[in-house]
Amino acid sequence: MSKKKMWGGRFAESTAASMEAYSESVSFDWRLYAEDIRGSQAHARVLAMQGFLTEEEAQTICDGLDAVRAEIESGAFKWKTELEDVHMNVESRLTEIIGPLGGKLHTARSRNDQVALDFRLHVAARLAQWQKRLAALVAALVDRAGEHRDTMLPGCTHFQPAQPVTLGHHLLAYAQMFKRDHERVADALVRVRVMPLGAAALAGTTHPVNPRAVADDLGVEAVFANSMDAVSDRDFVLEAVFDASLVMAHLSRLCEEIIIWANPNFGYVKLPDRYSTGSSIMPQKKNPDACELMRGKTGRVVGSLMGLLVLVKGLPMTYNRDMQEDKEPFFDADKTVGASLSIMADMLGLIEFVPEKMLETVKRGFLNATELADYLAAKGVPFREAHHITGEAVAYAEKKGVGLEDLDISELKRFSDEIEEDVFGVLDYAASVRRRTSPGGTGPDSVAGQIEALKQWLAGLK
Ligand code: ARG
Repeated sequence: MSKKKMWGGRFAESTAASMEAYSESVSFDWRLYAEDIRGSQAHARVLAMQGFLTEEEAQTICDGLDAVRAEIESGAFKWKTELEDVHMNVESRLTEIIGPLGGKLHTARSRNDQVALDFRLHVAARLAQWQKRLAALVAALVDRAGEHRDTMLPGCTHFQPAQPVTLGHHLLAYAQMFKRDHERVADALVRVRVMPLGAAALAGTTHPVNPRAVADDLGVEAVFANSMDAVSDRDFVLEAVFDASLVMAHLSRLCEEIIIWANPNFGYVKLPDRYSTGSSIMPQKKNPDACELMRGKTGRVVGSLMGLLVLVKGLPMTYNRDMQEDKEPFFDADKTVGASLSIMADMLGLIEFVPEKMLETVKRGFLNATELADYLAAKGVPFREAHHITGEAVAYAEKKGVGLEDLDISELKRFSDEIEEDVFGVLDYAASVRRRTSPGGTGPDSVAGQIEALKQWLAGLK
């Protein structure tokens, strides 16, 4: 029985069935097959370069690996749990196809540096996908912001109406978050794209390997500096899942706002049918399920990050089997963040904004009160006093059930002699937004500038 194991030489008894089920990883790490094969082909070519294999042998191995890939992709490949993981499944099938020569592939290599390479290649490819989706989401936000450069919305602090802003400005705040996420992923990629093969089990190898050549073959920029670190470093996974967690946290903030805005008491947005669901019992309902799920799935991804942090905590040098537990949290985070980003981009394109509703709450919330205080301050009234005068005027208007702009000049003058006819220009909401021309401010000109800058950034991405 033990003969079946690739490492079975020193074992007299076979593994318990429960242990086999407990320790196998092929049920999830099969996803690394393409990287495993790419890595092995590069390794074989460099083994030939270093004189371990003849060119012909390396070619036979590479062709054999191509055949294995074809079997996997056609669905003909039989994954075997008794072979533990993707690496041994691929190698074992290769040996069946090309014969004993397949056994030479593992020269100067351990599964410890092999799995590190495969996973690094895989994470790098997925991060590049996240970047594409982040860019598409930024583009969708920029598009919608362009349509709503002048649309007024109550800007909030403490979730209380504070000052009028433009919807375009509000959407571009999210564009900035996702742009930073994109940049953060780019930065993580620098540390993911490090080639660990040649570290062997932990100590390096007596064979004259050439890690730089393997890295060049794979198009990877950096090579490991310390063989022990190379096989035990999982920082790259943690960093990737942190980046995913922050993307999800950003998405969940946007989801929360869409959910609130879709509530009929706000009515700022109408959700696209494609991303909402109905109730089986209450016919009037249209539920923002896509946003709710995204908000909920944020917990999953953050949970994966927590799991990974605890996984690496206190691990002694170097490779420990614990590390096999690093894959599933990443695969799950990858699936979640990828789907969430593309659903959000698509949904944003279809959401119907309702500017009249937004304007209604701008008017109801005395959002021009700061304008009045600033107006008085500009006339020399100390700001603290201007603040107090304005507060009294708000209380008066509130009692009357009107806005500050609906009071006539004689009513306003009761609060301060400094108030004159020109105050009505100041109390005009649209004008107040237009005057916010400070850099990065909410005014339509500033929004146009932000859009331009984001478009340039998007155009500059490869
Ligand atoms: N399936 C293992 C993992 O994912 C591969 C490395 C196994 N190495 C070992 N020494 N058993 O971590």
